[in-house]
Amino acid sequence: MSNFTQNAQDLTPRNIVSILDGYIIGQNNAKRAMAIALRNRWRRMQVRKDLQQEIMPKNILMIGPTGVGKTEISRRLAKMIDAPFVKIEATKFTQVGYVGKDVDSIIRDLTQIAYQKCHAEAMVNAQIQAEKNAEEELLKILYPQSTSSNDEETKETASKTKEKIRQQLRRGDLDDKEITIKATSTQANLHVMGPPGMEEIGDHLQEMLKGLNNQKPKTKKVTVKEAKQELQVQQAHNLVDEEEVRELTIERVEQGGIVFLDEIDKITRSGGEIKGDVSREGVQRDLLPLIEGTSVQTKYGNVNTDHILFIASGAFHQSKPSDLIAELQGRLPIRVELSSLTTDDFERILSEPKHSLLKQYSALLEADGVIIKWQKSAIAKLAEIAYQVNEKNENIGARRLHTILETLLADISFEAPDSSASSITITVKMVEEKLQHLADDQDLSEYIL
Ligand SMILES: Nc1ncnc2c1ncn2[C@@H]1O[C@H](COP(=O)(O)OP(=O)(O)OP(=O)(O)O)[C@@H](O)[C@H]1O
Ligand SMILES: [Mg+2]
Repeated sequence: MSNFTQNAQDLTPRNIVSILDGYIIGQNNAKRAMAIALRNRWRRMQVRKDLQQEIMPKNILMIGPTGVGKTEISRRLAKMIDAPFVKIEATKFTQVGYVGKDVDSIIRDLTQIAYQKCHAEAMVNAQIQAEKNAEEELLKILYPQSTSSNDEETKETASKTKEKIRQQLRRGDLDDKEITIKATSTQANLHVMGPPGMEEIGDHLQEMLKGLNNQKPKTKKVTVKEAKQELQVQQAHNLVDEEEVRELTIERVEQGGIVFLDEIDKITRSGGEIKGDVSREGVQRDLLPLIEGTSVQTKYGNVNTDHILFIASGAFHQSKPSDLIAELQGRLPIRVELSSLTTDDFERILSEPKHSLLKQYSALLEADGVIIKWQKSAIAKLAEIAYQVNEKNENIGARRLHTILETLLADISFEAPDSSASSITITVKMVEEKLQHLADDQDLSEYIL
């Protein structure tokens, strides 16, 4: 069984919601619906095989204004269960530049992400053995022994010398010594871009170049210290069973993959077709088989999309979910509405989440030796101003908090390294002085906040 279900049993809907609560304020309906969807994945894995195959994921349509936590909830969820996760804008496929980029690339991207993770894990698992192998390899370079001698005495001295070098090596005594090792080819970093929609060609080219590269092994001079590191990586690469990694990748994608399809509302027909753009309805039709379940060819093997969970999301300002083509609506049976955020929510978002914005800014400035203290009334004022600016200008939800904080702290951020103060308290007065006149002046706030 793959690892992603490891502690999934403990992830009851209630627990999932309470973990999400640590990061996202409010939006309880959305949290609950997501928690159920996630639990159902685990439940499905407990069901007997033949029935398991029949149980399809209940895909979700999240509806809510911009900046209220739609993407954030999904991202946290994917992290929680350590599942392959990809986020993609549905509108990407309607743009002129992307004509021909097929929606299958979503699954290819997802698989690529899963592969990198699986491969990294396999490298970590191989670490201990790789270190041992690398040491032997290094010893061979530092102390090349002829195996031809049958003389017992010579053999014994040789082995003693080798052990001595081993100890020196481990102590780091030889770290600065220069030696020659085989160079790792640079192809790992080489990425060939194919034309849009034809990533496969890029991949083939890459394979070909790999082949060319391999034909002439190069050597290079490095210090023992560098060699240790490099040989360990080389050895780890050798130890990783590529076939196994690929199989695990495919399994994880098929059984646990989550695709987050953003801006789904923008591929409805209402709002008018833009000339030159790929038909929006066309994109919806293209998406159908993917969501319904189809097989997609990827570098790592064929991926069956039957059980991949799709979470679509959109603001639906100018269109309604019922503007989506009927088949697509049917494939997104769970509807969740997220509410717009209140001043109170803003206040909590600033300080309560585990990695709240205030904590982030404080930590950054602490790096320069400045401790920031936030007066409670100052936080309330910040929330109030953010709310006002959203009302007057475009409502960008909690994203407004970022721009507001940035403006508030610009001077402090600039001066922090030279500041003699070791702590700065942000007071309500300070917030008012820096922000209120901007918030009140429509022209200014449009540009600055
Ligand atoms: N309810 C919330 N609790 C905590 N933080 C939030 C909340 N809503 C939004 N945020 C923060 O605001 C930012 C934007 O949120 P997010 O990306 O989830 O917006 P969205 O709903 O997906 O918007 P869009 O429709 O524009 O994609 C993120 O940094 C996120 O952490
Ligand atoms: Mg989003």
